[in-house]
Amino acid sequence: MNKVNVALLGLGTVGQGVVKILQNNKDQWVKRCNAEIKLKKVLVKNTQKKRETSLPPGVITSDWQEIVTDPEIQVVIELMGGIEPARTYILEALKHGKHIVTANKDLLAEHGEEILSTCKEVERDIYFEASVGGGIPLINPLKQSLLANNIEKVMGIVNGTTNYILTKMSQEGKNFLEALQEAQTLGYAEADPTADVAGLDAARKLAILASLAFHTRVKLQDVYVEGITKISPEDLAYAQKLGYTIKLLGIGSSQDNQIEVRVHPALIPLSHPLANVNDSFNAVFIQGDAVGETMFYGRGAGQLPTASSVVGDLIAIIKNINSNTKGHSVCTCYERKKIKPMGEVKTNYFLRLHVLDRPGVLAGIASVFGDHGVSLASVVQKGCFQDIAELVVITHQVKEKDIQDSLQIIKKLSTTKEIVNLIRVEGMGC
Ligand code: NAP
Ligand code: HSE
Repeated sequence: MNKVNVALLGLGTVGQGVVKILQNNKDQWVKRCNAEIKLKKVLVKNTQKKRETSLPPGVITSDWQEIVTDPEIQVVIELMGGIEPARTYILEALKHGKHIVTANKDLLAEHGEEILSTCKEVERDIYFEASVGGGIPLINPLKQSLLANNIEKVMGIVNGTTNYILTKMSQEGKNFLEALQEAQTLGYAEADPTADVAGLDAARKLAILASLAFHTRVKLQDVYVEGITKISPEDLAYAQKLGYTIKLLGIGSSQDNQIEVRVHPALIPLSHPLANVNDSFNAVFIQGDAVGETMFYGRGAGQLPTASSVVGDLIAIIKNINSNTKGHSVCTCYERKKIKPMGEVKTNYFLRLHVLDRPGVLAGIASVFGDHGVSLASVVQKGCFQDIAELVVITHQVKEKDIQDSLQIIKKLSTTKEIVNLIRVEGMGC
């Protein structure tokens, strides 16, 4: 019987999940992949830290060289996160003939090309299902099952932490920090949760999804990013009253050799399937010219869901090793599509502003919008305090540049007290 020696780089939330799955299903591996899986080494920063899982003596190390130079180790699973030293360790492991499994979207969204070309050079594989959508299969469907299609759109909720925070704020009235702390305790958040709340984690995932879906290299820097820090309980309450909820969306689309890639909070109608994706759940729509609309749903973060994807990738690699096939991880970005500037993107908008409650104020604002071709779908005055009124405006589909130019002028009107928030609206349709 084959024995495959595996090393883990990282024994945090996901790393410990991988150990649990490997230990719990020990008697299944031979049946599932015709090999005994031996976890030979585990790299950590702090060898003295107390862990949820116990490993035989001598397995845990803080010396990465010991792992990458060990000729018996065939697969290295990187679960440390961040760019360096993960990039160096992966490249060195590849050069020493190891196959790689990783959940590291930070690295793939910025250095995917370098890593894939190294895989090709050394004829080794990299699998990265857990890098997007935690436990939801998304990468494999895009790389294989949906390959018959020209993918037109990829849109979804791809960050568990922010979805958890928005759900708790809107459904349980929790404040932002309280909900973030819960997401951290549950193991959803990144080591530095700024990456989650600022939208960067979602942007990295969108870069990976868009690269695979549209066959063109999309990097983190190509994605327009806005996080959820400006979303207030008042925005969520207004959205609810108007029949919407607010979600952090990643949106990618391809048309006429140009692609749109953006991450930002958006109002979506309560009837939209994404409106009911709550807590740490993620969901992604993928629309292809042959298959039509598909939707993938599940746990987008957390220990065991993420480890489920990692171990699935490990089994795929072991099957390749068993059948003596390798070098599957070639770059699929054979096109060079342009990124549409954000100013050219067309969508609907929800605008909340405070203005003087006087005759003619609304007409002045409407006239600025009119001059910029911004057509209004609805305008509601929501109460007033002293002589300040709160206006809530929803626009028809307009170009981002036109609404931003209008707001620059509206902001300077003597009757405008504050532009409180501008949030895009998806799924209105006109
Ligand atoms: P984590 O809990 O912070 O664990 C990181 C582990 O890596 C720790 O064991 C740490 O060692 C080790 N480590 C970090 N830097 C190291 C270094 N320089 N040398 C040696 N060891 C080092 O992270 P995680 O949540 O498990 O996430 C791991 C990866 O999975 C990240 O790429 C993350 O984005 C991705 N991911 C996470 C989730 C999730 O739900 N958490 C979901 C999908 C993808 P010590 O324990 O000694 O400090
Ligand atoms: N921090 C990430 C999230 C982990 O909250 O979605 C999963 O990639």
